[in-house]
Amino acid sequence: MLSKKLEDALNKQIRIEAESSQVYLSMASWAEVKGLEGIAGFMYGHSDEERMHMLKLIKYVNERGGHAKISDLAAPKTDFGSFQNMFQELYDHEIFVSNSINDLVHVTLEEKDYATHNFLQWYVAEQIEEEALARTILDKINLIGNDKGGLYLFDRDVQQITVESAASDTVGD
Ligand code: FEO
Repeated sequence: MLSKKLEDALNKQIRIEAESSQVYLSMASWAEVKGLEGIAGFMYGHSDEERMHMLKLIKYVNERGGHAKISDLAAPKTDFGSFQNMFQELYDHEIFVSNSINDLVHVTLEEKDYATHNFLQWYVAEQIEEEALARTILDKINLIGNDKGGLYLFDRDVQQITVESAASDTVGD
């Protein structure tokens, strides 16, 4: 059985994952309208992943005798200025999510809930991968600069930049 404090903290994370899904959905739509099909595809996929992160938490809370609460969500912005800025915002957002997961893990230790501590290790590992992926993309964007041909290739290839390839890129960092 989850403590009330931990149940509340998990519900807060459920909301953050749902809002993350909305943020990336808004980025996907912005990119699609700008004709950046590859970037849009990447963001639609990322939005789906966040929904999966949310669902995994909902199932866990309910399985442990809590009640996962579905709440209203903050509206994401709809204009991201430039694709460079948009990916910087994605990176910043993932850092925010990582900090939130760390706070949640801290609550499991305070509450001595080792089952939830164990469950959350999947999210801890996922955040390492997501941050690595976002950093890899930002590095590529820096290489492109304002080169239009570079943007064309980036948009064509961005969906191939997977968490796995990002992880192997950062080995030895
Ligand atoms: Fe669910 Fe991108 O963290």
